[in-house]
Amino acid sequence: MLQLIVFKAFYKEKAALICKIKTNGILYLCGMLKTTLLNAVNAGANEIRRYYNGSFTISNKEGINNLVTEADHASEKAIFDVIKKEFPNHFILSEETGEIVTNSEYKWIIDPIDGTVNFANGIPLCCVSIGVEHNGKMVLGAVYAPILNEMYFAETKKGATLNDKKIQVSNKQELVKSCLVTGFPYTYLDSPNGPLQIFEKLIRCGIPVRRLGSAAIDLCWVAAGRFDGFYEHKLAAWDSAAGFLLVKEAGGKITDFKGNDFSPYQPHILATNGKIHEQLQAVVNGAQVKNASSL
Ligand code: IPD
Ligand code: CA
Ligand code: CA
Repeated sequence: MLQLIVFKAFYKEKAALICKIKTNGILYLCGMLKTTLLNAVNAGANEIRRYYNGSFTISNKEGINNLVTEADHASEKAIFDVIKKEFPNHFILSEETGEIVTNSEYKWIIDPIDGTVNFANGIPLCCVSIGVEHNGKMVLGAVYAPILNEMYFAETKKGATLNDKKIQVSNKQELVKSCLVTGFPYTYLDSPNGPLQIFEKLIRCGIPVRRLGSAAIDLCWVAAGRFDGFYEHKLAAWDSAAGFLLVKEAGGKITDFKGNDFSPYQPHILATNGKIHEQLQAVVNGAQVKNASSL
């Protein structure tokens, strides 16, 4: 009997020790992921700074103003160098290179410059955006706009920050009194109830709708409470991956146009302070703005 008790106590202690090592290991990995993420956005941002206002080559993707510059490629390379040094086996999805497929549980979703048209025109609204997924769930996100000197960071269940200070979505309750932001795709503007029609409807009700030209910054500014809501019709995963977590962690709501949980792998995005979500969702789906006097 005594032997059994001693045996049990020994294994309990051992199990606790294993558990502690495991927890420390996970904490260590989380720390490494965060450090690498911040180093990666910084490395990309250094390339943005290096080329900003200087000379660089510009080429077109589909459509005449859908640009990619030498700086997009330089930023992507600098980001890859940082990630691959620490995590050579992680999956990568990046705008200019596409997928680097591995069977890792971790996936880095990278936009080396979000707001390339702004960047190419010397407009400071451009950034590096990187989201990190673990088993299909976004766990870390960072957006760094180096010319504005704004670093946004979010970790799942730990909140969102701007330059290390906690941020929160706004408290606006009514769509008619809200300040919104949107973006326009390079194609398919005129489809029924498409981007231009929705924009016109909101503008005709006197609702300010801004267009910054960087979806990642749009999302961060919803997270920071500067905008009450953001919608866009055609984004790619690298545009929204990091900003998606920022809005969530800042207390906002983010869905597709039907109100389903948001996935960065589908194009529609509706991100708000939560309070005006259903009102904006209805308008995006064809309803008129309630309590508005049309202009
Ligand atoms: C673009 C920006 C823009 C959005 C476009 C994106 P890019 O990303 O996020 O705000 O309206 O749909 O393609 O090309 O500058 O990385
Ligand atoms: Ca982008
Ligand atoms: Ca880009």
